[in-house]
Amino acid sequence: MPTSSTSHVASAVPCPVVESLDAILPEEPLLMMGAGPVPIPAAVAKANTIVINHLGGTMVKVITQVKTMARYVFQTRSKWVLGVAGPGSAAMEMAISNLAWEGTRVLCIKNGFFSDRMGEMGRRVGARVSTLEVADRAVASLDLIAETIRRERPEIVTVVQGETSNTVWNYHLKDIAALAKAAGALVIVDAVCTLSTMPLEMDAWGIDAVITGGQKGLSSIPGVSLIAFSDAAWARVKGRTAPNAHWCLDASLAENFWHNAGYHYTAPVSGVLALHEALRLVCAETLEKRFARHLKCSQALQQGVTALGLQLYAPQACRLNSVVGIEVPGGLSPADVCSHISRQHQVEISGSFGLPIVRIGQMGEQCREHNLFRTVHALGRTMVDLGVKVDLPAGVAALERGLSGGR
Ligand SMILES: Cc1ncc(COP(=O)(O)O)c(C=O)c1O
Repeated sequence: MPTSSTSHVASAVPCPVVESLDAILPEEPLLMMGAGPVPIPAAVAKANTIVINHLGGTMVKVITQVKTMARYVFQTRSKWVLGVAGPGSAAMEMAISNLAWEGTRVLCIKNGFFSDRMGEMGRRVGARVSTLEVADRAVASLDLIAETIRRERPEIVTVVQGETSNTVWNYHLKDIAALAKAAGALVIVDAVCTLSTMPLEMDAWGIDAVITGGQKGLSSIPGVSLIAFSDAAWARVKGRTAPNAHWCLDASLAENFWHNAGYHYTAPVSGVLALHEALRLVCAETLEKRFARHLKCSQALQQGVTALGLQLYAPQACRLNSVVGIEVPGGLSPADVCSHISRQHQVEISGSFGLPIVRIGQMGEQCREHNLFRTVHALGRTMVDLGVKVDLPAGVAALERGLSGGR
């Protein structure tokens, strides 16, 4: 007998019963103080609720402004700024897959988990990737980098400004870029966690591609990212003979949307509007003031954590300010700390891919005094609750001293 249109065959997938978001989400939003995503300002949240025509006149104006503001944040006059519908990793893949292909010699300076990813992406497009392995909690010396460049003769060098996983800051970035340039290589910089939290001058430092995500320093939503190519990098993109195997990430196709008001794929309009507002707030604050705010807050946090009696993971010389790594005292695991502080204090912080640390972010909206007091207090109380002897009043007092300029 034929079945009616409303009846189901036995193997059909049944309609599921699920909980509403109201039932799943906590009544009070958790304070996002981990390695990203970070809290977003009200203007960003509002923009993220709007849907407009992705090919209309309003979008053209929004895109024009996003590019103009992004040029300021990247410190570049290059025309070739594009957005990416995807995470920071998609922007990384857009950089490497457009600039490298079968046989391209790529040198990956590997400081940890994220900088290694660029090498992996290079191998996947067929590039001949050599890796400079840098010890944990350290940066490679310029001599070693120069020697490696001489030996490997890379066409492309990849490097991260802030290695979020082990909280190491590649403070040599400008000099690394100069060494690569002098050897005729293009330089790709991963600024996913650092952009707008500390200086990065794409043009002045001779960087050929910079990438960033939305959910960190910019305090926008995750899933819409930015990339900028120098003229030299763009010439390589345009000069390649084999097309990029990643259709969505093909910069020549993305040019249609980001520079010619045409169609590539349907852009994540709400996310681009959110990014617009995030960038507008960076411009309203100015980079100088934003860098100063980040530095002051991160140093005060580090003083507070140290005064609690806990150890910071990265040595001061190469310590990243955008994400602070804290050693977890013996007997505890990062997961113990993260789950307790989340459950008892509604503060989210991060573990780190197998390292014995927890990480507290200092990116964008995380760098606000009230968020810092709540976080240091919650971390101190968590330690007390978990049986670790810390000096909670000293930690909070040191934070206050750091924020008020040592008064
Ligand atoms: C330095 C760095 N690079 C790349 C990424 C990847 O970004 P996403 O998770 O948005 O793909 C991250 C994410 O934490 C990062 O910190």
